[in-house]
Amino acid sequence: MKTKVSFVCQSCGFQTPKWMGRCPSCGEWNTLIEEVVEEESSPGLSLTTSAPVLYGEIKEVTQQRIQTGINDFNQVLGGGIVKGSLVLIGGEPGIGKSTLMLQISRDLASHQKKVLYVSGEESLEQIKLRGERLGLRQEKIYFFSETILERILQAVENLSPEILILDSVQTVYSSQLTSSPGTISQVREVANRIFRQAKAREMATFLIGHITKEGTLAGPKSLEHIVDVVLSFEGERDHSYRVLRVLKNRFGPVSELAIFEMSEEGLKSVENPSAFFLRERPGHEPGSVVVCTLKGTRPLLAEIQALVSSSLFLGNPRRMTVGLDRFRAAMLMAIVEKKLGYSFAGEDVYLNVAGGLAIEEPAADLGILLAVVSSVKNRALPPEVAVFGEIGLSGEIRSVTQPGLRIKEAASLGFKTLILPQGNKNALTQEKRAGIELIGVKDVRQAIKLFF
Ligand code: TYD
Ligand code: MG
Repeated sequence: MKTKVSFVCQSCGFQTPKWMGRCPSCGEWNTLIEEVVEEESSPGLSLTTSAPVLYGEIKEVTQQRIQTGINDFNQVLGGGIVKGSLVLIGGEPGIGKSTLMLQISRDLASHQKKVLYVSGEESLEQIKLRGERLGLRQEKIYFFSETILERILQAVENLSPEILILDSVQTVYSSQLTSSPGTISQVREVANRIFRQAKAREMATFLIGHITKEGTLAGPKSLEHIVDVVLSFEGERDHSYRVLRVLKNRFGPVSELAIFEMSEEGLKSVENPSAFFLRERPGHEPGSVVVCTLKGTRPLLAEIQALVSSSLFLGNPRRMTVGLDRFRAAMLMAIVEKKLGYSFAGEDVYLNVAGGLAIEEPAADLGILLAVVSSVKNRALPPEVAVFGEIGLSGEIRSVTQPGLRIKEAASLGFKTLILPQGNKNALTQEKRAGIELIGVKDVRQAIKLFF
């Protein structure tokens, strides 16, 4: 196989051996990116090796998975690390990606797995320092401080690791391309060649990629279709918790998520996320409501906070949300105005999910609505009440998925009363009621009457 370099238009696929500012085919500017194009050295394909097969003749494969000692991490991957899979872990610089992967490496090494940790960002001495912080002792992890892809592949050849970690994909580059590390063409070339190695050797590989908040670093984004799994490591730097979320998984569900806390000794699994996110909740404050939400397959209690105060911005009051969808919140406020007769014309409305969580699902609607009304009325809900329910445009409260899980979670955290959609309550079997008082509501007016 012979390799040659060519410039490929990222917009229409036009190829040229020479760089040009504008694609002569589609007319787009700055779309020509250097890529390695491989040519078959022998002309003519073999026609015998590839043919369609009948479904019944396809061999069943059981995916072999490697379990790590960090259960949450296994769960996020859909039940452990699939051999030969290529996993991209994206996140902002400083969020804890290297820390997480070093901890995973330690765990794997302690279970007799051969791990090669390639760092293009840190010297061996820096890695040692971090390792000391994390309490690494004589673990058998191979470290390699290197940025040239060809040398890394050679090391893979020599060592035959079962797990490879590349920290980060932006710092590694192929000497066959002239473009600098971190450019789309380099990042893709690195991922493609590592992908082939991972498959050929059944070596599970983790690519670490830096992504800025705006997602501006195009590099790792452009890898999402190449890799098998995309994980996102998120959190606020001034909060200690971190969320590991799945964005894509060829071997498992994409709704899973794990929560960690960054401590002096590295990342720790948060065993009880609900308690964690409610730990600083004020008891009797207007505008605070606890909702039972689902994150992936796991229920999670979170506190929604609303603050409604008269606006200084005449005719243009503020509508701010943190961790909630702004349009959904605006819709709910319109429902409050129309169905309950409140007016927010001269009011600023601020909505927040405590602890920096983000909630996307409509099951939080009822919580948002109650928080807003509680703030307007300046009256707190009883602290042992939790709620869930979706709200429709006519003010009706609609059933949501997995009521049983939500109820159980609220009950296990000591909540006494749960406000939920009447439809969900009707459908419940006795054993799902979990010894908590359930109040079903049909529409927003009925829900408001319970408290105000
Ligand atoms: P790091 O893993 O280097 O982030 P990334 O690889 O995503 O850029 O984590 C960096 C931060 O984590 C740094 O600010 C220090 C902090 N940290 C701890 O709080 N405790 C620890 O045990 C370690 C190793 C790091
Ligand atoms: Mg790092």
